[in-house]
Amino acid sequence: MRKILVSIAALLLLGGAVSAQELLTTGKTSLVLEAKKGKAPKILHYGSLLTPDEAASLKDAGWKSQNAYPAYGLAGTEECALAVTHADGNMTLDLRVEGVERKAWEGGEILSILTKDAHYPFTVKINYKSYKDQDMISTWTEITNREKKTVVLTKYLSGVLPVRVGDVWISSLYGTWANEGRVCTEKLTRGYKVIKNIDGARNSHTSHSEVMISLDGKPQESQGRVIGAALCWGGNYELVFKTNDDDFHHFLAGICPENAQYYLESKETFTTPELAFTYSEEGLGGASRNFHRWGRKYKMMHGDRERKVLLNSWEGVYFDINEEGMAQMMDDIASMGGELFVMDDGWFGDKYPRTKDTSSLGDWVVDRKKLPNGIGWLVRTAADKGIKFGIWIEPEYTNSVSELYEKHPDWVLKAENRDLVYGRGGTQLVLDMSNPEVQDFVFKVVDDLMTENPDIDYIKWDANMNIRAHGSQYLKRQSHLGVAYMRGLAAVCDRVRAKYPDLTIQACASGGGRANWGILPWFDEFWVSDNTDALQRIYMQWGTSYFFPAIAMASHISATPNHTVHRTTSLKYRIDVAMSGRLGMEIQPKNMTEEEKDLCRKAIAQYKQIRPIVQFGDQYRLISPYDGLGMASMMYVSPEKDKAVYYWWKIANFYDEHFPRVRMNGLDPEAVYTIKELNCIDVKPLAIEGKSFTGRFLMEEGLEIPYVNKPAAGRSDWSSRVLYLEKK
Ligand code: DGJ
Repeated sequence: MRKILVSIAALLLLGGAVSAQELLTTGKTSLVLEAKKGKAPKILHYGSLLTPDEAASLKDAGWKSQNAYPAYGLAGTEECALAVTHADGNMTLDLRVEGVERKAWEGGEILSILTKDAHYPFTVKINYKSYKDQDMISTWTEITNREKKTVVLTKYLSGVLPVRVGDVWISSLYGTWANEGRVCTEKLTRGYKVIKNIDGARNSHTSHSEVMISLDGKPQESQGRVIGAALCWGGNYELVFKTNDDDFHHFLAGICPENAQYYLESKETFTTPELAFTYSEEGLGGASRNFHRWGRKYKMMHGDRERKVLLNSWEGVYFDINEEGMAQMMDDIASMGGELFVMDDGWFGDKYPRTKDTSSLGDWVVDRKKLPNGIGWLVRTAADKGIKFGIWIEPEYTNSVSELYEKHPDWVLKAENRDLVYGRGGTQLVLDMSNPEVQDFVFKVVDDLMTENPDIDYIKWDANMNIRAHGSQYLKRQSHLGVAYMRGLAAVCDRVRAKYPDLTIQACASGGGRANWGILPWFDEFWVSDNTDALQRIYMQWGTSYFFPAIAMASHISATPNHTVHRTTSLKYRIDVAMSGRLGMEIQPKNMTEEEKDLCRKAIAQYKQIRPIVQFGDQYRLISPYDGLGMASMMYVSPEKDKAVYYWWKIANFYDEHFPRVRMNGLDPEAVYTIKELNCIDVKPLAIEGKSFTGRFLMEEGLEIPYVNKPAAGRSDWSSRVLYLEKK
């Protein structure tokens, strides 16, 4: 028996030409497929790393394979990934393997299974791509109509994954405006679980297109097997778990097919977005770290470049933009050690000056009454103060009160025979990104700004409205709108990036509406939420970190009472939370005391010291705010494990509290680390200040952290600590 297995393995190693089994591996994971000529392609295993011998023995172990890309029509009630209507009205597909291709790419390998319908000239290439060092495998399909007439795709998901029934739990993100990225943990039971979004232009305010699947019972941070999945798409999506009468939770994900049938012309290929998976035996934390490393290296813009510390004008002045005010904010952020000033909404409009949110989007000319010397003056003023300048735009939108709309009413989304459907301010409208003229216009918004002001360093690209009216005045096929919008946006982003590769661009969408791996390939970061309240940010940033690294999460120190939730927290607390992401400020500095500015100045200096650890290190979540223990804690560790930053935040305030002693993670057990408190406001240094401990002790036992800050000015209920650990 052993001899036979070895020979199967040998054949597999020789390229899998004879065996029907295909093994795709990363450092610690593997995917086993069956691709037998003339049969439907199957998935036999996704999870731990198997040797070729072990993979070849799965059938002996009684394992059953599942359809790798189930198509509708001949498989009974099986949940399908693909459904079509052929020109003759036939609604079935019978996809059979024709061949297999394997090719190497710099980060791993791409395995493609070529399938063809048994009767119709209709093919589907099912691709699997390994990212070896990050333990990620992604899948997507290329659906080609080789028939003479148009075939209608009524469902065209990216991929599927069978998950063996057991004690399986899922963790997904949900929320709304100002409450994005909240963690929802639930056990998978029988029936359907659907996560979907139909916002159209953005897709992560409510449910996210990522999910963690914990295979060994209730999700744990550092233990248990976890599969993470992320659909890399910025538009409408659906993630489905179907669990009926067999041994599997059938997981399928892709573009939401509702109201979105796609007319695939003869010879046309539809490529579905990438659905990325990771697998870890180190719990949720292990899966998150894989996502973070993969994202920084392959799926976001400038994942290897440190982000600047900035001040954004929004919560400081809102629409009240003027030269004097901008210069004062630049002075203030420069004096606190910041590196960039971003002028937010309110700077534009000629015939209709933007003084509130009811007009002017689309009229991207500077409001000379507010800024007589134009953008150039602001860029130069910033440079004189030793910082960079950034600017806000919302280029995919207009208002009915705008010169753009007066000139191009045909450019907005509007259903025929229907009135306009407005968004923000009662006048906002979505531009039709499927229209190439609109794409040119949107590109030109960026191009004009950059051509006239080549030293602009940063753009905040906002998107404050979902698609409310299903109607393109350009498209022949109205059901193509969702896909065509995203393709149009992608085409513009490609052009922007080809011409401005160094520009930093933030994806903002009324806060966290564009936190996804479909958008980040062109964007450097996203605005996590319009809610800058430090306490609520702990919950939101915690959830968001399941899938996204700190470098992508814009996190700003703002004023109290907080403008959204009206909570008053200490400045230290706000700093300590903001410092766990990409640090910035969103405040009117002229309303701050000298003492407050001084604390921020010190914090910014210290952040610069820990920035590489936060932005490129490995994250270890230690105590979850969702566990109801009254506090939360996490840390980042440098890849070399020689430095770390540890965060401890109180999230409830009662008298006579007793919190757990937190055990650290991710350190080198043999190394000795010295502790230094950052952002210290206490009169007396901590007892642990300057002391050294082994990594083993810190991870197995942990430090006693005083529960309250004790500054000279009296205690504050929102206590927090940030510790810097350096290897001796
Ligand atoms: C929504 C964003 O999330 C805010 O940060 C701000 O840029 C406003 N739009 C401006 O209108």
